[in-house]
Amino acid sequence: MVDLREHWSIGPVEIPTRLVLAPMAGVSVQAFRRQGRRFGAGLVCSEMVSSAGIEHGNERTLGYLRVASDEHPLAIQLFGSEPEAMAESARLVEAAGADLVDLNFGCPVRKVTKTGAGATLLDDPGRAERIVSAIAEAVGIPVTVKLRRGMRDGSRDCLEVGPRLVEAGASALTLHPRSAKQMYTGTADHALTAELVSLVDVPVIASGDIVSRSVAEDVLERTGAAAVMVGRAAQGNPWALEEIVDGEGRPPSREEVVAELVVFLREAVRELGERRASGFLKKFYGWYLGHERFPREFKQQLVVLDSIDEVEARLFAAAPGAIDLVERLEAELPRGEAVTLELPISIYGGG
Ligand SMILES: Cc1cc2nc3c(=O)[nH]c(=O)nc-3n(C[C@H](O)[C@H](O)[C@H](O)COP(=O)(O)O)c2cc1C
Repeated sequence: MVDLREHWSIGPVEIPTRLVLAPMAGVSVQAFRRQGRRFGAGLVCSEMVSSAGIEHGNERTLGYLRVASDEHPLAIQLFGSEPEAMAESARLVEAAGADLVDLNFGCPVRKVTKTGAGATLLDDPGRAERIVSAIAEAVGIPVTVKLRRGMRDGSRDCLEVGPRLVEAGASALTLHPRSAKQMYTGTADHALTAELVSLVDVPVIASGDIVSRSVAEDVLERTGAAAVMVGRAAQGNPWALEEIVDGEGRPPSREEVVAELVVFLREAVRELGERRASGFLKKFYGWYLGHERFPREFKQQLVVLDSIDEVEARLFAAAPGAIDLVERLEAELPRGEAVTLELPISIYGGG
């Protein structure tokens, strides 16, 4: 029997459960990561952050480097293709307080691959190695890499590249065994994860289609992976994490759903500001209120409202019992300023 509550580690970083919350662009904000920790994720990860954006001092990019006090252990993920620039970015990731720096060698999106970053690096193992070794030399925290199986369907390139990256200094690998070409179609072929596990002596994290406890157990047993990573199943559904870690599912009440969504809204507004948050949050309404928890029209009513205050009022009107729950939840959480740590001055100064 697999124990998901077992501790494991990446280098010196202790990880309390064998469930990792996936990095997802446009999703993995602090609010998502902190909620993931509360529901059992042992390790959380930022969305991919552009090394070029950091280099140019882009303010929004630098905002992704904010680490809250209650989200450790946390990986911040970088993407880019220039070893020296990425090493410099990794220094800032370390200074910002991340426990791990993760490298994205898996993004299949053209905007990223055309710059030589993301999954393209699987076609350029020499450069991939140079990036890992430059970063491993530049920082004291462990360097980890997230890969796809390769660029093309049926590719087994990850089995050649993965061990070379470990040789170059990677302390763990995450494999999402789909090709870049597949995007999110088909299924993740975890037979490949098992092969990768047998080839390296660092922890391997299995990513792709982990949606329930039974799938998590099956993948851990079949592959020998150190942990499973959960992405889409956790969108608007932190209860899935609880079910995977503890093996006991319980559908949330409507009040719990609304309470978690309201806490999420408030945190996202604090993190992103109301204007950016209101666009960002719209997809979350469907994710939270779906799963047959609320009628479809309810979500449609929320997305057209002008302000987050109105959304909150509508949510509380639909589940008045959530008001007390939110108060209780917020009383337990570290509050506001205590949570969002300022970045070191040198980051803003570019030094
Ligand atoms: C909306 C979205 C955004 C993603 N962004 C990233 C990212 O920034 N970095 C990354 O390594 N993977 C990213 N991924 C891939 C996920 O981390 C994960 O490997 C993939 O979704 C498969 O896992 P799942 O079946 O549990 O969702 C993203 C996936 C989705 C759905």
